[in-house]
Amino acid sequence: MTTLENSLMAARQNEIFSTGGEGDRYFQRNRAFYSDKRSADELSAAAALYTKYIKQDDLVLEVGSSSGVNLASICQAAGCRGVGIDPSAEAIGKGLQLFPHLDLRVGTADRLDFADHSLDFTLFGFCLYLVDREHITRVVAEADRCLRDGGWIGITDFMPDVPTARPYAHRAEITSYKLDYSRLFTAFPHFQLVESVCFNHTDNRYSADPQERLSAQVIHKQMRGGYQRI
Ligand SMILES: C[S@@+](CC[C@H](N)C(=O)[O-])C[C@H]1O[C@@H](n2cnc3c(N)ncnc32)[C@H](O)[C@@H]1O
Repeated sequence: MTTLENSLMAARQNEIFSTGGEGDRYFQRNRAFYSDKRSADELSAAAALYTKYIKQDDLVLEVGSSSGVNLASICQAAGCRGVGIDPSAEAIGKGLQLFPHLDLRVGTADRLDFADHSLDFTLFGFCLYLVDREHITRVVAEADRCLRDGGWIGITDFMPDVPTARPYAHRAEITSYKLDYSRLFTAFPHFQLVESVCFNHTDNRYSADPQERLSAQVIHKQMRGGYQRI
């Protein structure tokens, strides 16, 4: 069996990022950005998009937050409350020092330790491509459970033309699963895609290369919406 077939069958990446230290290694490779409080002063284009849908005092969760730089910038711009989870204990420890106003916890996307319907906005901060396929339906179910009716999902991730699986650039035994993740939500009529913007790693332009194309998407949850009443 190939490495890809193996990883498609087993939930291994969760452990590699958590106890295996790959989350810490991501933080260490990008320490200059994630350890500097000033990184939060600049709102990325994706974060600016999400901020349009967040109101003052809303409770916003970022899944895959690393030290919370991105979340802190959103909270600063929108006046909201921020909770972040990430498998990297090192990133979370640094984030608690930098941003004591954020509630940062070690955790992964498949288990959200929040009450039903308690969140106003859940952002998947460029982490869904790393989630084990065995966990991906649970991740959608957990996000739905914790989000209030009328709340929002934000997704920053790759946006290829077709679903693709390829080795993660920093460790071959990890697979990067690239696909339009909004489809996993909008398969359900109570989730509607309201905005989608493409960009790439170097600027805010659309990339013709489907492997380099990224997107920021906003999805609205409305339990009574989406059905034609007859
Ligand atoms: C590409 S970084 C993005 C960091 C930050 N959200 C940002 O936009 O700058 C991906 C993050 O996802 C985390 N991660 C990996 N697997 C995860 C999982 N199963 N659940 C939640 N986060 C995960 C990694 O530790 C890493 O911090």
